[in-house]
Amino acid sequence: MFSRFKKPEGQQTRPAPTAPVNAASPAAARPAATPPKAMLGARPPAQPARSPADVAAADKEKKRKDRLAELKVDLHKRLLDNLNLAALEHASEANLKQEIASISAEALDEMSVALNKDDRATLNQELYDEVMGLGPLEPLLKDETVNDILVNGPNRIFVERAGKLELTDITFKNERHLLRIIDKIVSAVGRRVDESNPYCDARLADGSRFNVMVPPVAVDGSLVSIRKFKKEKLGIPDLVRFGAFTEEMGAYLQAAVSTRLNVIVSGGTGSGKTTTLNALSSFIDNKERVLTIEDTAELQLQQVHVGRMESRPANVEGKGAVTQRDCLRNALRMRPDRIIVGETRGEEVIDMLQAMNTGHDGSMTTIHANSARDGISRLENMVAMAGIEMPLKAVRAQIASAVNLIVQASRLQDGSRRMISVTEITGMEGEVISMQEVFRYERLGVEPNGKIIGRFNATGVRSHYSERFRQWGYDLPASIYEPII
Ligand SMILES: Nc1ncnc2c1ncn2[C@@H]1O[C@H](COP(=O)(O)OP(=O)(O)OP(=O)(O)O)[C@@H](O)[C@H]1O
Ligand SMILES: [Mg+2]
Repeated sequence: MFSRFKKPEGQQTRPAPTAPVNAASPAAARPAATPPKAMLGARPPAQPARSPADVAAADKEKKRKDRLAELKVDLHKRLLDNLNLAALEHASEANLKQEIASISAEALDEMSVALNKDDRATLNQELYDEVMGLGPLEPLLKDETVNDILVNGPNRIFVERAGKLELTDITFKNERHLLRIIDKIVSAVGRRVDESNPYCDARLADGSRFNVMVPPVAVDGSLVSIRKFKKEKLGIPDLVRFGAFTEEMGAYLQAAVSTRLNVIVSGGTGSGKTTTLNALSSFIDNKERVLTIEDTAELQLQQVHVGRMESRPANVEGKGAVTQRDCLRNALRMRPDRIIVGETRGEEVIDMLQAMNTGHDGSMTTIHANSARDGISRLENMVAMAGIEMPLKAVRAQIASAVNLIVQASRLQDGSRRMISVTEITGMEGEVISMQEVFRYERLGVEPNGKIIGRFNATGVRSHYSERFRQWGYDLPASIYEPII
């Protein structure tokens, strides 16, 4: 879809006719809806009070859940006594489920507990999850609509769906139960968490990113955060469809990545930085050798020639750490065409800037920052914290010549994720890095249901790299830089 601005081979230097991009899809840059003026800034309506019948039903449901939870603990103990744990590894899922069902049926009979068919099925599934999986977290891990799982102690489990946090009715039995599941996760990757070593990063078997902090550092019970791994990564067309940016911006980004500009994706936590980086990487030519470096491998590049690296923390004896910087230094000896660092957050910034400046142009990374200007300050700070004694002006000059483009990702209050700004670095003016914004998201108001109304717009500034784009065969029509008034 985005190759329509790319000229066929052999015609790279001829100026191309200006295709009426905006005319082709004017809707892309128009506001989604124009709100009546009175609605702007209106607050969402308050939640209606719950009726007594609702309260009674909720109470009944809670009692049912508590009862099932109690039973589960008893049955789980029995299962651990009765199941041959060594044989579990080789048992098929169906066999194991059958085995669990029969042991639990026997136990329920012994306890003279009668359960209806649904409750029995729920109980057996939960027991299976308990024995083989991550207990109460298992249904959330399987739920495709959940992006993040956030545990604040045993009784509060939140999930993030469509950019919004929701409290679930799932709980752990108690802190010990939660700790047992945590232990299961971290021991599977050869790590340990306890009072003396209270936090840890790990990757779940399905690729999800996992972080934990246990008491007493976590005051009200263990804190767990899981960023679910998505097999189907969002591509450029998906992001355009979801309104993360427009087709015109997509065409511009294609030109930027294909012509090997160095790109930084900046944004807050969970704003879609990694997703954007992954999508942008789809514009990299299949012939190029790409090396990726991450703390937790999340990127999924589609190219043929990709080498993936993952840093490693020290082991229990404090040995064997391999940092992102180690990986990056080594990567430079591995003949990369491009280097992609999942997130630059420390001393590796020095090597990243050097790589961008010395022949590995087209490299990309993400940083945690709230605006392009803020992103530059973050880079300066990281250089300073890496212990490099360089005058600020020299650091800035290094950054200005290394970084070409900063795209700012943001999660808005209504949960939508948008590319709120695309900013080019144009050089230095005295001591200051000069930059120009090319596209931005303009917020126009808010609907009564809290949905934000806005539109993407060009700022009217023509790209600093237009000539480069043209020479490489990406003749973006001038109209894409024209703002809608
Ligand atoms: N434009 C989008 N529309 C819908 N969902 C999105 C969009 N961008 C990202 N997501 C989803 O939001 C979640 C967070 O995205 P992502 O991991 O890219 O964020 P991040 O900024 O890298 O987070 P972190 O700061 O934790 O590294 C993911 O589950 C992803 O699938
Ligand atoms: Mg990320």
